[in-house]
Amino acid sequence: MWTYEKKLQYPVKIACPNPALAKAIISQFGGPDGELAASMRYLSQRYTMPYKEGIATLTDVGTEELAHMEMICAIVHQLTRDMTPEEIKRHGFAEYYVDHTAALWPQAAGGTPFSATFFQSKGDPITDLHENMAAEQKARTTYDNIIRLTDDPDVLDPIRFLRERELVHFQRFGETLRIVQDRLDSKNYYAFNPAFDYGKRRAEASECRKEYRQDNQKEQNKEKECRPDHQMQMHSCDQTHTLYFGRNAAYDGNTGKPLRNYR
Ligand SMILES: [Fe+2]
Repeated sequence: MWTYEKKLQYPVKIACPNPALAKAIISQFGGPDGELAASMRYLSQRYTMPYKEGIATLTDVGTEELAHMEMICAIVHQLTRDMTPEEIKRHGFAEYYVDHTAALWPQAAGGTPFSATFFQSKGDPITDLHENMAAEQKARTTYDNIIRLTDDPDVLDPIRFLRERELVHFQRFGETLRIVQDRLDSKNYYAFNPAFDYGKRRAEASECRKEYRQDNQKEQNKEKECRPDHQMQMHSCDQTHTLYFGRNAAYDGNTGKPLRNYR
């Protein structure tokens, strides 16, 4: 649950419209390294983060990225407010204008629409945190590029603030990565995925899976009884086994092993 405050995280007050600049800055709304992707990345990843410090960081930063998205939208809006048709044409804004007028629509500077493929939620904290640190640096580079494109102090001020926050986020994800690594085997972080393997162990130990395991064991014993050589061959046995055998042949004719063994 979020509480909305009717103010921007940092003020945006732009006096002079500049649609050409808006077309570049909109990348930080819907582009590959933009604030929307950043927010969705962290707020999606937090569910499988196994450590509370990591969940807190992902939630904090994911929430702040929403506030950054709002600032970017305010910048783009103020740069495209009260445009004349001549300004639209002169600033190369006609392609965007024809589809969206002066509304905010998430796209990259080159026109590529926003896509969930701009971020990953991999379910391994080591992997996800490395992605997050790289993403923060990519966002920082994008802000550096924007800073080189303008000398308008009204735009530079909030853009510099956003750039600084990317560095802070990069450091926070770096600290989180260290916390996660401290809890794993320092000789091989990759041998164990705490977001998945703890759950797998819990499932193996849980009461509700016992019945399944017992059933599975019974079937395996029955298979050994009827097919001591474990070879795929037709033979007479009881009806249950015939059905069992027929089912396996349909799915796993190469080895003759029961499908259930692979689950
Ligand atoms: Fe960020």
